[in-house]
Amino acid sequence: MVALARSSRPQPQITEASAFETDVLEGLSTTPKRVPAKYFYDDAGSQLFERITEMPEYYPTRCEMRILRDHAADIAKLIPEGAALVEFGSGSNKKARILLHEAPKLAAYVPVDICGEMLEREVAELRPDFSQLKILPVTADFCFPFELPAEAKAAPVRVGFFPGSTVGNFEPHETAAFLRNAGRILGPGGTLIIGVDLIKPAEVLNAAYNDAGGVTAKFNLNLLVRVNRELGGTFKLDTFEHHAFYNRERHRIEMHLASLKRQKVWVAGETIEFRAGETIHTENSYKYSIESLGALARGVGWTPVAAWTDTQDYFSIQAFTLADAAATRHTPH
Ligand code: AVJ
Repeated sequence: MVALARSSRPQPQITEASAFETDVLEGLSTTPKRVPAKYFYDDAGSQLFERITEMPEYYPTRCEMRILRDHAADIAKLIPEGAALVEFGSGSNKKARILLHEAPKLAAYVPVDICGEMLEREVAELRPDFSQLKILPVTADFCFPFELPAEAKAAPVRVGFFPGSTVGNFEPHETAAFLRNAGRILGPGGTLIIGVDLIKPAEVLNAAYNDAGGVTAKFNLNLLVRVNRELGGTFKLDTFEHHAFYNRERHRIEMHLASLKRQKVWVAGETIEFRAGETIHTENSYKYSIESLGALARGVGWTPVAAWTDTQDYFSIQAFTLADAAATRHTPH
């Protein structure tokens, strides 16, 4: 996502807070204004997202849970005995639980998440129910290379699990980069199981990101609350509005925060000017077909091996394998 901006900095230690500041200031000084969607997930944001998943209009989580429950045994056939299960962006342990019940002979379960507090809570909840399982949480931004715990590296194979259509937040080229990075982390013989939201009628998509309960709006606006608290921002929440719509050409939901008037806002000592109606682009949520994600994955060395969908074809769980070491070095044409 911001690999270049970050890796080109010479400072030895960059905390998450300063990356937040750098990314927000950079994003608010470009046209159009934008802030990376990963910054939604502070403690309050993670909890608001959990509430979104309970909204009647927000189908993805329910559909994915349905697919997991209906096909758990089949999906778990892709997880051999002694494997390490690495979950990318494990906001909640609900989905992993289903797979863990079907794959009791794991060497380790490694949930990886950017939000340390959430991770600790979820792991504490999981431990009593899986007392035999080695649970090794890692706080990391999985868009970048990170180290697996020794037990996971020592396992004969690693299976990645990336549920929740989080992959939809990436630009297609970033999805390709993520898939390549996952290939490096999981290694030869690795498997990747991904939950991906599917392309569908715009009415269904628009409703899902504009719930009548206003929880998605609150989730979007919480980004400004976070900027105010952590970066000394002066955003007035009642002067910004949640905008979400399906962009058919690019197969993505776009979320924005629109300024209701011309105004100046201060963030970390800098002045940011807004025209009336000007927006901060806060999220893209890309939708794929089984074929379109398959093509992207093939381009970076993964081979599609299975796909499951719900009865309405709203959501998919897709599985890929990495044949050999050469595949991770394969570059797309
Ligand atoms: C967690 C990225 C899958 O795109 O549907 C929900 C986030 N944003 N409502 C999605 C989200 C607004 C969600 N993902």
